[in-house]
Amino acid sequence: MATIAVIGTGYVGLTTGACFAHLGHDVICADIDPDKIERLKNGEIPIVEEGLDRVVAEALAAGKIRFVLGATNASEHAEFHYLCVPTPQGADGSADLSYLEAAAAEIGPTLPKNSVVVNKSTVPVGSTEVVAKFLNRSDVKVVSNPEFLREGTAVQDFLNPDRVVIGASDQEAAIRVAALYSRVRAPIMVTDPVSAETIKYASNAFLATKLSFVNAIATLCEHVGADVNDVTLGMGYDKRIGKEFLKPGPGWGGSCFPKDVAALARIAEDFGYDFTLLREVLAVNEAQFQRTAQKVLDALGPDAQGKKVAAWGLTFKAGTDDLRESPAIEVLQRVSGAGAQVVAYDPAIPSEIPQLPLVQVVSDPLVAAKDADVLVVLTEWPEFKFVDFDQLADQMAGRTVIDGRNLLDRAILKRRNFEVIGIGR
Ligand code: UDX
Repeated sequence: MATIAVIGTGYVGLTTGACFAHLGHDVICADIDPDKIERLKNGEIPIVEEGLDRVVAEALAAGKIRFVLGATNASEHAEFHYLCVPTPQGADGSADLSYLEAAAAEIGPTLPKNSVVVNKSTVPVGSTEVVAKFLNRSDVKVVSNPEFLREGTAVQDFLNPDRVVIGASDQEAAIRVAALYSRVRAPIMVTDPVSAETIKYASNAFLATKLSFVNAIATLCEHVGADVNDVTLGMGYDKRIGKEFLKPGPGWGGSCFPKDVAALARIAEDFGYDFTLLREVLAVNEAQFQRTAQKVLDALGPDAQGKKVAAWGLTFKAGTDDLRESPAIEVLQRVSGAGAQVVAYDPAIPSEIPQLPLVQVVSDPLVAAKDADVLVVLTEWPEFKFVDFDQLADQMAGRTVIDGRNLLDRAILKRRNFEVIGIGR
């Protein structure tokens, strides 16, 4: 087993550190936030991730994980150094590498000889070289090991990945990193750094393209009178298409897809290729936010002023408390901006959020529905399916449901005289 330093304890870094400890390695996680480090030392997990609290607790009890302040306090004792720092989207769409460069410059001088530095954060193509430059250590190898973690299932995705990708120009370094995953049952592919970085972006961009395509098909279904549930079911039987990632919705969001798709379009442009398909994927997504908001506004009638809308769901997807680039927020900004009074409920969001200053957030879906003219479902939380719809009918003033995730049982709703408007059906 190895000693691994993990720099950055966000949802990628904390999951990576905890799971490597679970696999038997000795892990030292570093962050720049002293409060966060203190909380982590006590086993307090600042993010919603299924099973992460258990994996961290086990690792703490077994003495397999430590949390320290500052990257050098982790790196000076380790053989492998995972960079899991944020690479946010810059104003021009390109990825901001300042955190990555700062982390590399900080640990460079004190790295033990023959260390291997590993890029886990999603970084633009060619960043492995950038990190090597800031490390300024000829005896240290830099390897790309992109993450394919989905929020809400990050632990499961780390321990049971579809594949492990390692990008290295030095074969010995690649083999050393591959050995860290010896207890993981998944294909481990080794390629060059640029290809590994491109695999990450291309995978996310393809998934976003698939979603924009299915959202566009849902719009077509509305025009031709088809049922998108049956259309996507029929499509998914084709193994080349697959059943996964074919659910239409209010658009896609999160901390990765929007950032990575814009970054890849920008990377392509910087290298001389005008990736028009990706720009259209982003445009279809923006249009989906607008189309979903328009369904609500159309249901409110000619003037939204003073009308009441109940919104179920604020997070970008169920199973997480993450509001970053949430389609629900995009839709409700438009609805609230048109003058409607919006009351929202989300099981992971306890109170009002700065992104929606005019929107009241309550702690019960039926309270949100009180006197509402329209109900809109924006996040696919399973609990919404089990609300008492008789009570919903009593609470609401209107009888229109805009089901932005095609989540609810429309037969149950129609029996209570609700009109249900879905996405593509
Ligand atoms: C994504 C990638 O899946 C993951 O591999 C990568 O490492 C990080 O980015 P994540 O953003 O956490 O993961 O969530 P994901 O489950 O991919 O959902 C992204 C968005 O697509 C969400 O807004 C979700 O609601 C939406 N979505 C997903 C759909 O609208 N329909 C679907 O069928 C699936």
